[in-house]
Amino acid sequence: MKDAIALLKEDHAEVKAMFREFEGLGQRAFASKKKLADKICLELTRHATAEEEIFYPAVRSASKEAEDLVDEATVEHASAKDLIAQIGAMEPQDELFDAKVKVLGEYIAHHVGEEEGEIFPLAKKAGLDLQTLAREIEARKDEIDFVPPRLPPTGAGRSGRARA
Ligand SMILES: [Fe+2]
Repeated sequence: MKDAIALLKEDHAEVKAMFREFEGLGQRAFASKKKLADKICLELTRHATAEEEIFYPAVRSASKEAEDLVDEATVEHASAKDLIAQIGAMEPQDELFDAKVKVLGEYIAHHVGEEEGEIFPLAKKAGLDLQTLAREIEARKDEIDFVPPRLPPTGAGRSGRARA
């Protein structure tokens, strides 16, 4: 059984490969682009949800040092989720579709770099039970089979604390 860090790294590698595949698709391969973008968005949603609900709280409570990094990662997730919701609501023919997928890939690459370079080493150092966490992460990911829709941000009337 893989531990939680190996599992999350495997997700990262998988999603990076999908972004590379997207780059290689023809400009007018609309059906393939939509299908792959939907797959990327779903995988990222499953991964991010499991991290936010299971891995980050565990790291936060085990490592004081990691707290700020986990906060940053949570903010990065929120930006990624906004972009994921926008991509999900778009058609692949839309002018900015490719650009949004590309920028999402860049966000994720940055986020993965910080996680693997800083958060994972601290999680290891903190002596977390990475086997149990891996099982919990797998189980949570398995429960998610669609990307939840988000309301477009309107500014007014939207509580800053609301989590869509
Ligand atoms: Fe991650």
